[in-house]
Amino acid sequence: MVKILAIETSCDETSMSVIEDGTKELGTVVLSQMDTHALFGGVVPEIASRMHIENITIVLEETLKKANLKLEDIDAFAVTYGPGLIGSLLVGLMCAKTLAYVYNKPLIPVHHIAGHIYANNLEKPLEFPLLALVVSGGHTELVYMKNHYNFEILGSTLDDAVGEAYDKVARVLNVPYPGGPLVDKLAHQGKDTYDLPLPLNDESYNFSFSGLKSAVINLVHKEKQNNREVIREDMACSFQNRVTEILTKKTIKAAQKLNVKHLIVAGGVAANSGLRERLTKACKQNNIDLIIPNLKRCTDNAAMIGAAAYYAYKRGDRADLELNAKASLPLK
Ligand code: KG4
Ligand code: ZN
Repeated sequence: MVKILAIETSCDETSMSVIEDGTKELGTVVLSQMDTHALFGGVVPEIASRMHIENITIVLEETLKKANLKLEDIDAFAVTYGPGLIGSLLVGLMCAKTLAYVYNKPLIPVHHIAGHIYANNLEKPLEFPLLALVVSGGHTELVYMKNHYNFEILGSTLDDAVGEAYDKVARVLNVPYPGGPLVDKLAHQGKDTYDLPLPLNDESYNFSFSGLKSAVINLVHKEKQNNREVIREDMACSFQNRVTEILTKKTIKAAQKLNVKHLIVAGGVAANSGLRERLTKACKQNNIDLIIPNLKRCTDNAAMIGAAAYYAYKRGDRADLELNAKASLPLK
């Protein structure tokens, strides 16, 4: 049995987890900096890296306590090395390198999005071929996997990521940070009354959200100019319906065409209740086996990195002490 201690510090969560054989979560700690960044209306990179430094040893101690293990019991150390905020990534990287060096154990580099995908392996062992809908603050992609750690991008966003569009729409609707979850909440209290376009409704597997985002912004300004009140709940509902409709439509089409064993959803926007509902319904109608991570595993956490790391470890991925953080990094 392989116990991997994984570290995730790519954005504003300091997280560590011990995962056994890629499936069993022995103990996870996620220390979110959200309340601090909320004061500034978004993540401030310099503050994020300083807070990671302050918190990382505390998170390490707490994780080992939770897992009831000592550092000597760990077989390998894994770390997110990109993509993400460079200063934040470096804190996790230095910690992982130090532990791997001192305990003379392998160091496994993990791609952040591979982590989001493998969060699903903690719900149910993945079966191949599978299709992953990756929806986060920085990514919107349909990824086809013929086997473990085999990533083929079928399509991606041509402009904004879904989470990014949510956060920008939140801003024009005066919804405080973090925007995405709050817009989701508002959407459930409203009706689909606003005339917004269904974005990039074509035959491709690509997405585009900046036009839809601009349509929301323009409509809000127009209503203001005409002294009409914008009903935030209805605007959120209309926006969310368009986003989830196009994501579901293209994802189901790809899943059917490729005849996949599993359809999985990955990334922070997998927490979106509208998307979860719509995909669940569509998968039931079309007999597609859907996995969506538990809510706590949708947003950034180290358990997902530990799950991915096991398969990276098995295929021989190893890093040395020269490993560097990468702000942008293709998935492979
Ligand atoms: O995966 P994640 O934690 O960080 C990145 O790797 O980007 O995703 C964060 C993104 C943010 O844009 C946030 O607004 C969005 O996920 N998000 C949501 C919801 N929860 C988080 N967007 C819509 N509905 C939600 N419930
Ligand atoms: Zn993420």
